[in-house]
Amino acid sequence: MSENSSSQPIGFKPLLRVFGYARPAHFGIALGIFVMLVSAVLGLVIPQVLGWLIDGPLQTGEVVQVWISSAIVLVLGVLQAIMLWLRRRFVLEPATKVEANLKFDLYSDLVDLPVSFHDKWPSGQLLSRAQGDTSTIRRWLMFGVVLLVTNVITIIVGFVILFVMSWVLGLVMLVFSLPLWLFTYRFEGKYEVYARRSQDQEGDLATRVEESVHGIRVLKAFGRGGDALKAFTKEAEGLRDTEIIKAKTVGWLWFWLIVVPSASFGVVLLFGAWVVATEQITLGGLVTFFATATALRWPIESIGFLLSLTADANTASTRIHDVTDAEKTISDPENPLTISEPKGALEFRDVHFGFKNSDGSTTEILKGVDLSVNAGETVALVGITGSGKTLVTALAARFYDPDSGTVLLDGVDIRNLTQEELHTNIAMAFEEATLFSASVQDNVLMGYPEGTKEDLDKALQIAQATFVYSLPEGVDTEIGEQGLSLSGGQRQRLALARAVAARPKILVLDDPLSALDVHTEALVENAMREVLKGTTALIVAHRPSTVQMADRVALLDGGKIIATGKHSDLLATNARYRFVLSSLEAENERKEVEND
Ligand SMILES: Nc1ncnc2c1ncn2[C@@H]1O[C@H](COP(=O)(O)OP(=O)(O)O)[C@@H](O)[C@H]1O
Ligand SMILES: [Mg+2]
Repeated sequence: MSENSSSQPIGFKPLLRVFGYARPAHFGIALGIFVMLVSAVLGLVIPQVLGWLIDGPLQTGEVVQVWISSAIVLVLGVLQAIMLWLRRRFVLEPATKVEANLKFDLYSDLVDLPVSFHDKWPSGQLLSRAQGDTSTIRRWLMFGVVLLVTNVITIIVGFVILFVMSWVLGLVMLVFSLPLWLFTYRFEGKYEVYARRSQDQEGDLATRVEESVHGIRVLKAFGRGGDALKAFTKEAEGLRDTEIIKAKTVGWLWFWLIVVPSASFGVVLLFGAWVVATEQITLGGLVTFFATATALRWPIESIGFLLSLTADANTASTRIHDVTDAEKTISDPENPLTISEPKGALEFRDVHFGFKNSDGSTTEILKGVDLSVNAGETVALVGITGSGKTLVTALAARFYDPDSGTVLLDGVDIRNLTQEELHTNIAMAFEEATLFSASVQDNVLMGYPEGTKEDLDKALQIAQATFVYSLPEGVDTEIGEQGLSLSGGQRQRLALARAVAARPKILVLDDPLSALDVHTEALVENAMREVLKGTTALIVAHRPSTVQMADRVALLDGGKIIATGKHSDLLATNARYRFVLSSLEAENERKEVEND
């Protein structure tokens, strides 16, 4: 199970927070409660009319009055039906609106939350929160709240009526339903834990499905489909077990909810005979008493269902707030600075950074990185796998903040800039090229949406991505998850085109050519020279050819930049540099074999 779950009862604060979200639905819910109360009152008046009918007109034989009272009962019944229909009308639209708002807020938080949050949270958990939990809350707002409030009020008012009619019979009813209330109370505590567990397990299951679908080729290639299925089945069975416990818990509550009122009916009937015999109540009164008690049965029985719905919604709210409450550690400064004429100098000053381990300790990866990339300069970043090159690029884009030290853009600490300003100045391409479900054009012009056809063509030209023109619909072809699938090298070239098209002051490229063959890479590098003339660039490089594009090379080793200089100078003077390059070389050869 994910680290984000808790199995402790949580109290009902989360539900109160839902009411905050539900502001647009407040009026609708209030109207819903009102019409349901009217309906409940009607339901309680019907027995009174019946009692009056039995003790009055039926005994005296006044036919007209019999007709009148029957008509009254009929009208009351029809009115009740109308009220039920009105509840739906009043509540449906606002509740769906709340659901939509919740989804929207959750999504906008997901986009705002820092990379470190997404490093920790499995996507399926987020998916199930955005889908399942928001709709649980809608259901609760539509039925749960309205019925819970009205049914509780109905039960209280009903019991008062019963007591007023005959305190003896009322007391018998009440005493006999005591175990029911006790059981219901205990149920609440237990059910909530299972509700949380099952919702978390659903999230894990979603993660598993997502991973398998993404990794379907790997699963197939290694013949691991069966194992994946086993793992999936195991989790699905875990969920099923929880669901069964949940259902059993609810089942027991139902059992008591039905048995207890029936038993108390039997006892009340016995007492009833005695009460009528001693003339403490009329026959019509006894009928009214039973009819009223019958009218209370459904509200009483529904309490179990409503409570489980409430516990589900409470859990759903907690799970949603787990995400929305997560600290947005990377946010814009209160008084942001602006760089009026950006030149594009990038500097790392004594930057330390470590990832937190699950036991709370920190593994420091960068131990004082000092690197200065002058405006217009191209610096290649070289280091063995796992040395932290990707991390350095991520810090430049403020995906993370350094634990200590500073990253500066034109001498300004990037934490003093808005993220918008930072990201208009820096564009990135990653080794793992991500494309979105959209047209080629939209993907490439993502960082420069106002770009023209010429801008698009130019970027595609530089990145050697002109293959898109021969796609079925050219640059309008849908790519990404829902569209045409492209090869790794093709994706990388489009991602590079995207970075170039954004026309940033600073280009940060994390090994963006790794999936290209040597020939295409040379073409890209040639075309890039033109762009790099006017742009600052930090390029993570694996191949000597990429390194040669750079004015200067920086060697990252042991968490520090241990040498900078011209490729040829370093090659001549630095043994560690030679070692790192040759180990990268060996890795390249291995990769090429894998790609073939
Ligand atoms: N999200 C993360 N959580 C924990 N450790 C990480 C995370 N991302 C990277 N690392 C670790 O940080 C180190 C540097 O990673 P990275 O910058 O990707 O290396 P490089 O790009 O040089 O190959 C690696 O040891 C890697 O395992
Ligand atoms: Mg890397």
